[in-house]
Amino acid sequence: MCGIVGYTGSRAATPVLLDGLRRLEYRGYDSAGLAVIQPTGGVAMRKEVGRVAALARAVPPDLPGSCGIAHTRWATHGGVTQANAHPHADSEDRIVVIHNGILDNSEVIRQRLIADGVTFRSETDTEVLPHLIRTFYDGDPVAAVRAALAEIRGTYGLAVLFADHPGLLIAARNGSPLVIGVGEGESFLASDPHALVKYTRRVIYLEDGELATIRPDEIATTTLQGGGVNHTVEELEAVYGSEDKGEFPHFMLKEIHEQPESISRCLRGRVQPREGNARLGGFDLSPADLVRIDRVCMLGCGTSYHAGMVGAMAIERLARVPAVAEIASEFRTRNPIISPDTIHLAVSQSGETADTLGAVKEVQVKGGRVLGVVNVVGSTIARTCGAGVYIHSGPEVAVASTKAFTSQVTALFIFTLMLARSRSLSLHDAQRLARGLMNIPEFVRAYLASPGPIPEAVRLLTQARYALFMGRGVSFPVAKEGALKLKELAYIPCEAYPCGEMKHGPIAMMEPGRPVVVVVPDDEHRERTLSNMQEVRARGAVLIVVHTRGDDEAAAMATIPIAVPATDPVLSPLVTVLPLQLLAYQAALALGKDIDRPRNLAKSVTVE
Ligand code: M6R
Repeated sequence: MCGIVGYTGSRAATPVLLDGLRRLEYRGYDSAGLAVIQPTGGVAMRKEVGRVAALARAVPPDLPGSCGIAHTRWATHGGVTQANAHPHADSEDRIVVIHNGILDNSEVIRQRLIADGVTFRSETDTEVLPHLIRTFYDGDPVAAVRAALAEIRGTYGLAVLFADHPGLLIAARNGSPLVIGVGEGESFLASDPHALVKYTRRVIYLEDGELATIRPDEIATTTLQGGGVNHTVEELEAVYGSEDKGEFPHFMLKEIHEQPESISRCLRGRVQPREGNARLGGFDLSPADLVRIDRVCMLGCGTSYHAGMVGAMAIERLARVPAVAEIASEFRTRNPIISPDTIHLAVSQSGETADTLGAVKEVQVKGGRVLGVVNVVGSTIARTCGAGVYIHSGPEVAVASTKAFTSQVTALFIFTLMLARSRSLSLHDAQRLARGLMNIPEFVRAYLASPGPIPEAVRLLTQARYALFMGRGVSFPVAKEGALKLKELAYIPCEAYPCGEMKHGPIAMMEPGRPVVVVVPDDEHRERTLSNMQEVRARGAVLIVVHTRGDDEAAAMATIPIAVPATDPVLSPLVTVLPLQLLAYQAALALGKDIDRPRNLAKSVTVE
């Protein structure tokens, strides 16, 4: 989603700002802009609709100035236009702002400012900020920003430049992440550490309700009201900055093929097959704590929600503890009942998803316990939860989540094993499950080396006006994940249904040639799923069937059978999802879509 970059130091600011924006491109955006304080006074500003490359072409290559800010915008208030792109400035172009988040009371302030004679140049909520700051400015930039923010309701991560104060960046945060990079005689600002790694690994994470004054040699943080705040400088993880596509044409394909290794990293040191047990140190739960848990609630959005669904089903089945997965945005909207004995798990790749973060805060405000299951180290959800585990996928750059899903599911299976072992799961069954988990990376590698008739299935899907995905039990969230991937990458209308629900509506959509993707591992639901397959086949639908290798009956019913390695049935999502990832990838490729950056989507959704 929107990205922020700032620089103050002695080098030319423009290349640093453009480089930072390029590193944030993976997050998704529709326009970009920058502002640099000029040595002659004043601020040079450029904005363009489209890619950062278009902005780079519009900026004079030798633009002077060593203090500036830059932004990638993902439209919320106002269309995708040059005028709505950030930065925004006051009427004299002396105070310049970039902003991530949404200002809830912008319309009221806008009308008041218009009544006072201010002319607005954009439709954005952000533009009220420079004008409002201007009304408080009497030479003290920090006091003016503080006074303006005292009137603002909403979420923000923002940066402000004053033409009168070259070398100074002011940053403030409320609900939208900001990280300050500490260099030698230079300082940086970004909404995401990826923008900084080329220049420094030493960072300060700004917290909600804080303001920073950033100069080349000095960084000071306070509360928004001016109270003292001390931060220690942290060292960024080595994984930042290691993103390149290598031999692959797209990040998504690379990330699909990284799964044997990313799942191994998630398992490493956590599962003990001989003891039939597991340990997630970050959860800090003793067996005595585990037996007190009376319910588990997963919170997440999109793919992370689907991983939570798989985890909840595994927990109920193996640990016999009631477990549910909740869509984080709905959870917080409905004033949920929080029990102190329920453990909540916030599942998020980015650790920045606003709806999941909102759900975390809702649990916390009601006295509940929430632990993170997060990929990005040091992200807001990881820090807000305080305790939790990292899934160790490594950086996931493609907007469509793939390796994060399998690592989230792996982490939730590890938790299931711990919880189940503290209850009714026997040593023997636990050992079998632990061994099964440890074998998964090899099965994933074997499948990816020989993925089966994906191109044939893609031909059916890309000609379709609609496709249905179905599965039962743990295969239902896998079907949902497959449909989400196909929608977001290939824009093919499709939906996922539990097999049993098919007769209650979606069967009306069945007609000759209609592609139906069925996920049917060799588990206790297999027979009933085969019956559902007969029902759709009888209506002329063509079946793309993901089945366990050796299941000849399922294969024989399929138009396109895709075999995956046999696993413990409960672990099957870790292999059955793989063909669905490849189907979506290949379909998007065949249709010429932008695979790593699908339209309208963002890698981390930092607005509600
Ligand atoms: O970073 P998160 O895991 O919290 O993101 C949640 C969803 O926005 C994300 O999974 C989204 O659905 C993906 N684009 C799916 O591929």
